[in-house]
Amino acid sequence: MAFNGKQNKADKELQHQLQESGAIPEHIAIIMDGNGRWAKSKGKARVWGHRKGVRSVRDIVETCGQLGVKYLTLYAFSTENWKRPKDEVSMLMRLLVSSLRQEINSLHDNNVRLAVIGELSKLPKEAQNELLDSIDRTSKNTGLTLTLALSYSGRWDITRAMKRVAMDVRSGKISPEDVSEDTIAQYLSTSEMPDPDLLIRTSGELRISNFLLWQLAYTEIFISDCFWPEFRREKLYDAIRAFQNRERRFGMVSEQLNGTNTRSRKKDDLVNALSSY
Ligand code: IPE
Ligand code: IPE
Ligand code: MG
Repeated sequence: MAFNGKQNKADKELQHQLQESGAIPEHIAIIMDGNGRWAKSKGKARVWGHRKGVRSVRDIVETCGQLGVKYLTLYAFSTENWKRPKDEVSMLMRLLVSSLRQEINSLHDNNVRLAVIGELSKLPKEAQNELLDSIDRTSKNTGLTLTLALSYSGRWDITRAMKRVAMDVRSGKISPEDVSEDTIAQYLSTSEMPDPDLLIRTSGELRISNFLLWQLAYTEIFISDCFWPEFRREKLYDAIRAFQNRERRFGMVSEQLNGTNTRSRKKDDLVNALSSY
C-alpha cells in the first residue's frame, strides 16, 4: 500500500496553520510504543498490533514529508527487544522485510532518504540486504531523512563511539586532549543528523527506554496517551503545537530570551542570537 497521495483540503489547511504558528521541528524522534497493549485491548494477539502499527508509520512519514520536517527517527526495535519471545521477534523481522518491500517505491517517489542506526549485523541476513538495498536506492533523495533505529540502544551507541575513539587515540589519529563533545557526537551513529528537537513517545510510558541517550540532552518531550496503532497525523499536529508553545532555554533564564523569538528554536540559532546579549 502506498502513501495516500491525495491530501484533502482541510488537512492542507491544518498543516498550513501549523507552519504559520511557529517553527516546525527539524528533527522528530518517536518511540513507537503500545502495539501489544492495543491489540490486547481488542482481544487480538500482540503481533496483530505490530502489523497495524505499520499504517501509523506510513501516515506519520507522509505527514512529516508534507510539513517539511527534515529528519524523522523511529525507534522500531531496541537492543533489549531481542529478549522478547522468539516468535514475536521473528514476526517483527519478517514484518520489517515485508513493509520495506511494500513501501520502498512510494518512499522513493516521495523523495525520502532512508537510513538506519543500530547493530545491523544482528538482524537476519534478509533484513540486512533489504535495508541496504533500500538505503542505496534512496541515497540521492533530498527530502525527509527517515532513520530506523533497529537493534539500537543509546548505551550501545555510546559504547561503540567510545571504542572507536579509543582505537583512534591508540593509532595516533587523535589525541586524548582533543576529545570534546563535538568529537563524541561525530563518533555516534547519528553523526550525520542534528539532535532531535522533539521526542514523542506513545502509549503514555514516561521513560526513554535506552533510546538516543546522548542526543536527547535538550530535546522537548511529548508523551501521548494513545497507542502507536492509533497515532495518526492529528496527534502529530497536537505534539507539534505543544512543541511550538515551549520555551527552549538551554540552561539560560527566561529574561535572557526576551525578544529573541526563542520558541522552539534550535540551540545554535539561539546562542547566535544571544551572542550580543
Ligand atoms: C512497540 O510496541 C513495538 C516494539 C517495541 C517493537 P510494544 O510491542 O512495546 O507494545 P506494548 O508496549 O507491549 O503494548
Ligand atoms: C521501546 O519500547 C522500544 C521501541 C519502541 C522499539 P519497549 O516497549 O521495548 O520499552 P519498555 O520495555 O516498555 O521500556
Ligand atoms: Mg512497549
